[in-house]
Amino acid sequence: MGDAAPEMNRSPVKDLPFVERVYEFDEIDSTNTFALSLNSGPGTGLYVISARRQTGGRGQRGNSFCSSFDGGLWLSLVVPLADVGEHFRVNRSLALAACDALESTAGLRCGLKWPNDLIVNKRKIGGILLEVSTRAPGAVVAGIGVNANFGTDALPVELRELATTVLSETGRPIDVNGLLHRLVTGFNRRLHADAEREGQAYRDRLVGVGAAAVIGDTSGTFAGVDASGRACLKCADGERFFFSGPLRFVS
Ligand code: BTN
Repeated sequence: MGDAAPEMNRSPVKDLPFVERVYEFDEIDSTNTFALSLNSGPGTGLYVISARRQTGGRGQRGNSFCSSFDGGLWLSLVVPLADVGEHFRVNRSLALAACDALESTAGLRCGLKWPNDLIVNKRKIGGILLEVSTRAPGAVVAGIGVNANFGTDALPVELRELATTVLSETGRPIDVNGLLHRLVTGFNRRLHADAEREGQAYRDRLVGVGAAAVIGDTSGTFAGVDASGRACLKCADGERFFFSGPLRFVS
């Protein structure tokens, strides 16, 4: 599928000045896959792609992402970027915007588990998947999924103890379009905000700082994330830095 796919106009973000295109689907395989199929990216703003259901939602490390039913926020943003060194800025802005949006929409305090998980009450409520477009040079695709208006009983058995949803946490459904609007608005604001301040906001949300942890085959104490997005483990022989996860906490 290319740029000729239908552009829809019901989206809550279609009138935002920085939103250059909106694609809204009832059902699609994956909003990230669709975004990666586009032959061009935005000039200075964003493309916003959302779906009510994904038949082939994708997560980190080639995992599938459970999103085949209504009630979640399944969203991809296409973001123009000059430099791959800026990917962490996109990840951080999206993660912080999602925390803000969940807090203001559902009253949930949300933490961040490096590198890509949104955490509420020690369980995963959402995740982020960043991918580089090969068809649209200079564009990065930032996908995010947030479990909202369904209970954990809708999730596969193996996820029920590890994951949570807005409905399971609060007992109330939220306006997913309102969440989407806040998330996209907040993302754009944070993307262009002061890097120092954003870095501090990100560190303030990090979960597990000071805990025993493992990345790959390295064990140590999780000491946080530096300005370029690398996780730091304090090990017996000094500090080690990691560009990618997963990060596993050990008790
Ligand atoms: C993860 O937690 O492993 C990342 C999950 C990312 C899921 C979102 S949902 C919208 C977008 N489309 C996808 O196929 N994946 C991302």
